[in-house]
Amino acid sequence: MNDTLTRRLQAELDEFKRTGVYKRLNYLDAPQSAVTKMEGRGDVVILSSNNYLGLCDVPEVIAAGKAALDKYGAGTGSVRFICGTFTIHRELEAELAKLVGTEASLSYVSCWNANEGLCPTLLGESDWVISDQLNHASIIDSVRLAKVITKCQSAVYRHSDMADLVEKLEAAKGARTKIIFTDGIFSMEGDVAKLADIVELARKHDAVVAVDDSHATGVMGRTGRGVAEHAGVLGEVDIITSTLGKALGGAAGGFTASSAALCDYLTQRSRPQLFSNALPPTVAASALAAIQYLEAHPERVARLHENARWFRAALTEAGFKPLPGETPIIPVILGETARAIQMSEMLLEEGVFVTGFGYPVVPQGHARVRCQISAAHTREHLDFALQAFRKAGRKLGVI
Ligand SMILES: Cc1ncc(COP(=O)(O)O)c(C=O)c1O
Repeated sequence: MNDTLTRRLQAELDEFKRTGVYKRLNYLDAPQSAVTKMEGRGDVVILSSNNYLGLCDVPEVIAAGKAALDKYGAGTGSVRFICGTFTIHRELEAELAKLVGTEASLSYVSCWNANEGLCPTLLGESDWVISDQLNHASIIDSVRLAKVITKCQSAVYRHSDMADLVEKLEAAKGARTKIIFTDGIFSMEGDVAKLADIVELARKHDAVVAVDDSHATGVMGRTGRGVAEHAGVLGEVDIITSTLGKALGGAAGGFTASSAALCDYLTQRSRPQLFSNALPPTVAASALAAIQYLEAHPERVARLHENARWFRAALTEAGFKPLPGETPIIPVILGETARAIQMSEMLLEEGVFVTGFGYPVVPQGHARVRCQISAAHTREHLDFALQAFRKAGRKLGVI
């Protein structure tokens, strides 16, 4: 290893530690459920997982992965277009399209890849992408990449500000293709995109709507079909990207759902699709089983939201200031980064695992612990977490 590089990196790592932004990894030694085992800590209640429906460890999801391991082997050994396409991919993609209300879908090894493969593939020099200010890093990088590769134009509209979006759409008038790209649920704030308004504006301005529904698939809408179902525009969104790594089994993987032509075009030209191995068959089979489980158990979605409503109200009653909202992402704003990290450490001492987020992930002075609720939580788990919040909050002088 080159010594100069190592020294430079070590100096930066030391600085991360000095300024309190260094991320320590916690090792888990059991499946993710409402409670897991953390190395060195024992049992902890997880309030930090994207396992919204609690499907990471349901027997049907695990069994499907094991059966696929026996049937298809451990790996794909290739990218899709060479010899990495298995029948389970076709089954999963048909089911995903049905779930989110599109004609077709195409799987990727992650939603990061699905997003990264979207803008640079679809756009060209005479096109625009117009992106919400608070979009996920993978959308931001997709836009950046597209600008460099294709020389397309881009604009960022103020978060969920429809008047600003109209201005940006007007500035892009005359473009061959205009994509409005938004998160379905914004992961740091836990708020929901104004999708019905966005779809209406897109129709008026001849634009394409792309939604990253990673935090909303399996979560929003009465049957978990995402923000489109929640907003009453199911079947009207042009492109949906999402992850299999959150509510749908929580392993890994992502997809782009859209028209058959768009998915076929991505199969031909999207670089993460062409130059990176296909989704492992075990993961595809578990995700498929997770969707089937969701379809058979819509009450999981209802339980998730009941849990989220209860916990948000209980935190407020205890004197905290969780951001208001209607999703299972409940950020509790604490101010300075060091305070959020201290709170998260104190909660862990009490047996509750919640991650603190500070600058630069969120704006200066808006550091927070972000609670994520699951359908797997019982009232006892949530009550246990609440008592831990009370204790830590009092010690820190937050409440
Ligand atoms: C909105 C959003 N998009 C994309 C991703 C990336 O998903 P994946 O883990 O499948 O790459 C995430 C994950 O945090 C996300 O929150």
